[in-house]
Amino acid sequence: MSKVTVVGAGNVGATCANVLAVNEVANQVVLIDIKEGLAEGKAMDIMQTAQLMGFDTVVTGVTNDYSKTADSDVVVITSGLPRKPGMTREELIGVNAGIVKSVAGNVLKYSPNAILVIVSNPMDPMAYLTLKSLGLPRNRVIGMGGALDSSRFKYFLSQALNCNANEVEGLVIGGHGDTTMIPLTRLATYKGIPVTQLLPAEKLEEVAQSTMVGGATLTKLLGTSAWMAPGAATSFLVESIIKDQKKMIVCAASLEGEYGMNDIMIGVPVIIGKNGIEKIVELELNAEEKAKLAASEAAVRKTNGILTELGVL
Ligand code: LAC
Repeated sequence: MSKVTVVGAGNVGATCANVLAVNEVANQVVLIDIKEGLAEGKAMDIMQTAQLMGFDTVVTGVTNDYSKTADSDVVVITSGLPRKPGMTREELIGVNAGIVKSVAGNVLKYSPNAILVIVSNPMDPMAYLTLKSLGLPRNRVIGMGGALDSSRFKYFLSQALNCNANEVEGLVIGGHGDTTMIPLTRLATYKGIPVTQLLPAEKLEEVAQSTMVGGATLTKLLGTSAWMAPGAATSFLVESIIKDQKKMIVCAASLEGEYGMNDIMIGVPVIIGKNGIEKIVELELNAEEKAKLAASEAAVRKTNGILTELGVL
């Protein structure tokens, strides 16, 4: 029996629960929200697709009753406000920090051994806040951003190459922010062929830029932040935990000397299995990539500093 709780039944949380169910990632998915009836409604809507889609996962919804989330193997936290057009993810910190901290505390009361996947923005500082305020070992708190950013990178690469997106490999490391994420074009491949051999440098720069503002572009088009890819990327990450797949996924992980960093959560490739973060993969970066990562680190640290100013850490 495997059980996953998704906190927040908004667009991202409900989509994540839906993908978890359709892909039968867990036997049981609990959706919880503070808004009366919302999680129950979304769960019922998903369950009415079970016989159409042919899945056996049972999705239930609950308003604010954390006892129903008890003994979850994985808890996904999507709580808080999404960004509006023109906003950065970092601007959400004042509202979301308090929400995420209190949700994480409630979750842990009923699922003391759960692995926590943080989706709320600004994602890297929210993951850091969860790790620090709960005092958990670093394998149990994972920030989702890199899985999403890497999938957007592969999408934009496939558009530029006019190829099947499933045949492209690529990683986006660094912070989950419009100016802090680092699409690693040098290491991206199409069927094992470096994309640097297939696309001119200007085109690759364009792909990297589109990836970095990928979330902002959708926020502008949709009037609120995206949910399909964020929900699916979260489910992808949860599946690697529940099924102990040991996939290499870029996630915000707490670093203890890797990449020369300490006391920060930031996006790096990680092996994800039943214990959550099982191994941090250290890529050999060139001087330009190292400089970008150092700038990204500085930006994430600056936002982390606001947590202290807000008095939540
Ligand atoms: C995005 C938000 C979810 O990138 O951070 O779409």
